[in-house]
Amino acid sequence: MNQTLVICKPDAVERGLVGTILERFERKGLSLVRGELRLIDAELARRHYAEHAERPFFGELVTFITRSPSFVFVLEGPQDTWRIVRTLMGPTNPADAPPGTIRGDFGTLTSENLVHGSDGPESAAREIGLFFPGVS
Ligand code: RTP
Ligand code: MG
Repeated sequence: MNQTLVICKPDAVERGLVGTILERFERKGLSLVRGELRLIDAELARRHYAEHAERPFFGELVTFITRSPSFVFVLEGPQDTWRIVRTLMGPTNPADAPPGTIRGDFGTLTSENLVHGSDGPESAAREIGLFFPGVS
């Protein structure tokens, strides 16, 4: 089995979309193995999004992801779990995201695009360790 980290970001929690989003992943065939409603602090946000530290939107990204609780969870499937999650999420900019994807159906802004999903197997391992240390 194979796992990835997903976050329903503050906008998704504020809008009451956690159940809808989680249901899409579950209906696809992925299993919830760990999950927690959590207010991500600035230090964890900066570590999680460290690859974007030099980008102009980094400050806005940290402010957004820390503004209210997120639902952080681990999904498991037989293979390519991170890629299945990314396919169901849709592209980063909701304007590019087709209907049927989470960002395509529920989002309008790149800065409030509802979900995070790890972008590869190494990212998945790093992020699961960051949010759920000691859990493998
Ligand atoms: P995520 O990491 O949250 O799953 O999103 P992603 O892989 O689709 O996109 P990524 O390139 O990793 O960017 C992380 C988050 O930063 C914000 N962003 N803003 N203004 C911009 O050009 C811009 N580009 C990215 C988005 O909120 C994106 O989800
Ligand atoms: Mg990303």
